Amino acid sequence: MLFSKTLTNWYLQNKRDLPWRQTKDPYKIWLSEIILQQTRIDQGITYYLSFVKHFPTVFDLAAAKQETVLKLWQGLGYYSRARNLHASAQYIVNELNGQFPKDYKTLLALKGVGDYTASAIASICYNEPTAVVDGNVYRVLARFFGIFTPINASQGIKLFKKQAQQYLDVSNPGTHNQAIMEYGARVCKPQNPLCTDCDLQYTCVAFKENLQQDLPVKINKTKVRKRYFNFIISTILEENTILTQRKGKGIWQNLYEFPLIETTAILTKKQLEKENDFVKLFPKKYSLNLYNKKPIIHKLSHQHLYTQFWVLKTNTTTAKTISWNKVETFAVPVLIANFLQSYKRDLNF
Ligand code: ADE
Repeated sequence: MLFSKTLTNWYLQNKRDLPWRQTKDPYKIWLSEIILQQTRIDQGITYYLSFVKHFPTVFDLAAAKQETVLKLWQGLGYYSRARNLHASAQYIVNELNGQFPKDYKTLLALKGVGDYTASAIASICYNEPTAVVDGNVYRVLARFFGIFTPINASQGIKLFKKQAQQYLDVSNPGTHNQAIMEYGARVCKPQNPLCTDCDLQYTCVAFKENLQQDLPVKINKTKVRKRYFNFIISTILEENTILTQRKGKGIWQNLYEFPLIETTAILTKKQLEKENDFVKLFPKKYSLNLYNKKPIIHKLSHQHLYTQFWVLKTNTTTAKTISWNKVETFAVPVLIANFLQSYKRDLNF
């Protein structure tokens, strides 16, 4: 109980005034929690306010076009979260008459809502005693109790959930859950935790035994796949370009990109010009230059994308073109948004 009391007392005195803390509307808490799984609090606020402004209710989100939702999500990455958000809003409106699910179990039925999100919404909005476990909670629990079980294997996931549940303040689960997360983010930080200011230091195993850097334990199991991307940034008849929509499963589903030629290694200009897809798109006269002399390595959770942007000018292409003026209205991956920013700066747009 001391554990929970200490965290909660600290939280009540130190919590930040965040826009989603002024409401218990499950729709808004859901939005905030999904956004915060993708970004830090400061950037999360901007996205949260923009979503709430465009879609004040679950009905507005359900009625939106998927492309609009993806465009607002742009910059957060991992677009399947945005697609799930949209699909779940439609499910709530069409199948549940707009009634948001009211407990942990029924919340879990929403696409994109797992144990963490269901626990957060159920405890914050409905006072249901379900403990949240996110990266911050793993860290606080592992250090305080001195738990060396890896947090990313099934045994650890079960054990930490049990531990979190056991120490949850069941009379104030929403406050307790937010307190432990915020404590992990601001005091029991991954690097340079503020142990000397910490009210739990006298009972913390990691502090007593100087194990802060060793806990929590994570085992390395993901193999990173290297991919080689060549994007063709074309300008056709001075003012048009080509954008294509990515279809199928996999990264960036339904987002727009410049024509992409994926290869098994980094290419030279000569090699690119021999690629079938390139020849098909640009059969006639063109000029072609590599924009970035060194490949940009864009890191996703399981893939590293070695990327070259090729600037091409021509008067002929076999593809459908759009005006360069319209490019900004399309939802594109962060990798391409960053490129466009730098490209436009160079061209003095
Ligand atoms: N991080 C993500 N969600 C949070 C919440 N509700 N309170 C504190 N930190 C969080």
